[in-house]
Amino acid sequence: MNNIILIGAQGSGKGTQAEKLKCALGLRHISSGDLFRKAFDEKTALGLKARGYVDRGELVPDSLTVAMVLEHIEQLGRVQGVLLDGFPRTIVQAQALDQGLQRSRRSIDKAVYLAVPREELRTRLSGRYICRANQHVYNISTQRSKVSGICDLDGSELYQRTDDKGEAVNKRLNTFFSETIQLLGYYEKQQKLIRVNGNQDIDSVYYDVLSSLHEEIPQEIVSSLQPWQIPASPNTTQPRF
Ligand code: AP5
Ligand code: MG
Repeated sequence: MNNIILIGAQGSGKGTQAEKLKCALGLRHISSGDLFRKAFDEKTALGLKARGYVDRGELVPDSLTVAMVLEHIEQLGRVQGVLLDGFPRTIVQAQALDQGLQRSRRSIDKAVYLAVPREELRTRLSGRYICRANQHVYNISTQRSKVSGICDLDGSELYQRTDDKGEAVNKRLNTFFSETIQLLGYYEKQQKLIRVNGNQDIDSVYYDVLSSLHEEIPQEIVSSLQPWQIPASPNTTQPRF
């Protein structure tokens, strides 16, 4: 069982890569942002408390966020590994995660950082649309749906997130590059950090992430991958595709 974190700025491709990786690696994808948006739609008490922070592009307080994510991890029991996207975002959250995982006899195996320059992030966010039903991700330039405004996977309506417009974008990026970036040092010290160039096309990033997780991928999963998806052994120099 593997437990992996995707770290990356807003628009770096955490959600896009998680959608592919969760299938390849058999992990449960938990995105704190997706959980908050679901809570808004369902008008839960958590949703009502968190909405203002998210719309303004601010971090939701740790007291709400940590409990929400740990509860979802605990529901998985001990069988399935987890792919965390957007959590933790602060050192306090990272420490709370380590303690929470210890209680359920888990630990983080790897933290993968998707590195993307700030200007590219702004371009991606301004073109992003997500679907109403399951938050599948699209982009008007790089990842269009087959029918305009409709999700290919579940047929629901596509919409632009409120925090992808206006001042919220700047605020979110500033928070990432001043605060969340400190997580790199936290996981580097634990020798769990992997850096991947996120400024490539989606499949090349996916390939690099899989390659970097080579030691974590169980053999039965490697056997089920398409030939082009199988990462080269770290000691060989195979062609990329
Ligand atoms: P969240 O929903 O997690 O938003 P985020 O961190 O701002 O990350 P994004 O979802 O914007 O980016 P992504 O990396 O997933 O990129 P994506 O794959 O979509 O959080 C929202 C809010 O919730 C936060 O602001 C905060 O308020 C709150 N929150 C969440 N977690 C919290 C926490 N731990 N603590 C406190 N508060 C928390 O891709 C972006 C676009 O780029 C898409 O259009 C996609 O098609 C395109 N794209 C992706 N990859 C590529 C590529 N390689 N090349 C070209 N285009 C690409
Ligand atoms: Mg996302």
